[in-house]
Amino acid sequence: MSSGAFDGKIALVTGAGSGIGRACAMLLGARGAAVIVNDLNAETAQATVEAIRAAGGRAEVAPANVARRDEVTAAVNAALAALGGEIIDVLVNNAGVGSRRMPIEDIDDDALDRMLGVHVKGAFHCAQIVLAGMKQRKAGKIVNISSAMGTVGGRSGSHYAAAKGALLGMTRTWARELAKWNIHVNVVAPGGVFTAATATIPNYADEARTRVPIGRFGQPEEIAALVVFLASDEASYITGQTVSANGGEFIH
Ligand SMILES: NC(=O)c1ccc[n+]([C@@H]2O[C@H](COP(=O)([O-])OP(=O)(O)OC[C@H]3O[C@@H](n4cnc5c(N)ncnc54)[C@H](O)[C@@H]3O)[C@@H](O)[C@H]2O)c1
Repeated sequence: MSSGAFDGKIALVTGAGSGIGRACAMLLGARGAAVIVNDLNAETAQATVEAIRAAGGRAEVAPANVARRDEVTAAVNAALAALGGEIIDVLVNNAGVGSRRMPIEDIDDDALDRMLGVHVKGAFHCAQIVLAGMKQRKAGKIVNISSAMGTVGGRSGSHYAAAKGALLGMTRTWARELAKWNIHVNVVAPGGVFTAATATIPNYADEARTRVPIGRFGQPEEIAALVVFLASDEASYITGQTVSANGGEFIH
């Protein structure tokens, strides 16, 4: 993929103030996309924008809670106007919150609403923001970020697994529904990745040495490389797929 593979394109990355989202935004910016950087945290989102600009790219901030339709729509449309664009070519639905190990009985309505709000409603809201433009142009790429928790489940924290599993079904349905407009939809399912979300888990790095065949968890940039490939013109015959990146921890 050439460094200018996304020249002239506009990408929206949610939750791009940190971790995997920031790595996706940075790589898309480096490959020539103008990036709309969403995050709930306005400061970290702005820091990503500054980093993309410092590397010679174009970016605008769109601070918002993706779970709130009006808030995220207004923020993204303002950023799009600031970039002088009308159509978003690439959407990466990455914003998320991690799961604590939580037994079923402890998952109350607040925990459920929060988890489904950011991952499921957030992805719907952002798809609904970009679709009119993508359909008009008859081109578009949507990459959803699920998790191994969505594909193979986990030991607990089933509200997170529910949200991440929902993204698999949404991706498969959106891919069929949107193919006639040449809009490709895929989902990436990372295993363990070193980010702010996992930094507080005790013995996380040690766990990887025994659990993961390649002997370590991943870096955000390794997930971003896959996401950006799926968002590129090179992935022209791939839609509706779940692509795992987990160092061989889950082979299926
Ligand atoms: N790190 C891992 O091991 C791992 C594994 C599998 C999947 N994932 C998924 O990857 C995605 C990114 O995770 P990460 O590890 O980079 O986490 P992270 O905490 O480093 O980054 C997530 C970002 O999303 C933002 N965010 C949270 N709620 C939001 C909301 N309602 N609206 C907008 N932004 C919001 C946060 O502020 C944060 O900046 C998540 O969807 C996560 O579930 C992570």
